[in-house]
Amino acid sequence: MDDMRDPVVYTPPMPSKPTARSMVRPRSLRALVFDAYGTLFDVHSLVELCEQIWPGKGAALSQLWRAKQLEYTWQRSLMRRYEDFARITEAGLRYACAALGLQLDEERRRALMGAYLKLSTFPEVRGALAALKDSKLKLAILSNGSPAMLRPLVANAGLRGLMGTLISVDQKKIYKPAPAVYRLATQRLRVPKTAIGFVSSNCWDACGAKSFGFRTFWINRGGTPVDELGAAPDHVIKSLDELPGLLRRPVS
Ligand code: LAC
Repeated sequence: MDDMRDPVVYTPPMPSKPTARSMVRPRSLRALVFDAYGTLFDVHSLVELCEQIWPGKGAALSQLWRAKQLEYTWQRSLMRRYEDFARITEAGLRYACAALGLQLDEERRRALMGAYLKLSTFPEVRGALAALKDSKLKLAILSNGSPAMLRPLVANAGLRGLMGTLISVDQKKIYKPAPAVYRLATQRLRVPKTAIGFVSSNCWDACGAKSFGFRTFWINRGGTPVDELGAAPDHVIKSLDELPGLLRRPVS
């Protein structure tokens, strides 16, 4: 995997807070690239099923499962031991169950992993994507999810007709926020990075994309502070349905 490593280079300091500048030059963007899990799809829509299986433990399980899933992507990327996102997700589930003292038998494992292909979208997603599609920008997903996870996820949510291209880190065998992953989007879409708007609810992902060179939109649904990663997102919005209006604003 050595060829996937990006050279370590000195990167000049970037703004540590989102800038006050809120104007977007619509004509300068040719594509919008979306994160999937946590941004379009609510990973915690699984709480109900978790709760049915283990009453009283649903929320704790869902939180720890997601936390471990992400930790394993970062840790395995540093270890250079890539495994696809389905395996990582299942490993996170096994850990979370063990940590919470929950017995994960084959039937439960199957039900929970199956549910990961049918996650709910956040309520505003369909309307916002439909409005953005009318803007003629190329729309794509760039996700840690493997193609075998992303295709049914998007199809089950009925978003296939709205989302042009599905791009998976699996092609690079390393996870976000490795620059090679964001570069993949420029290659697949044939759009330079300065003309790509990247949208994520995962602040660290928006910071990674900003560090790479995308114009970034962080959907801060939870009202949390910006991550201190030295590359703050350009724009902060509370919900995806703010994005079409933001992109229509006049040039400042
Ligand atoms: C993704 C993870 C970050 O969809 O949620 O890439």
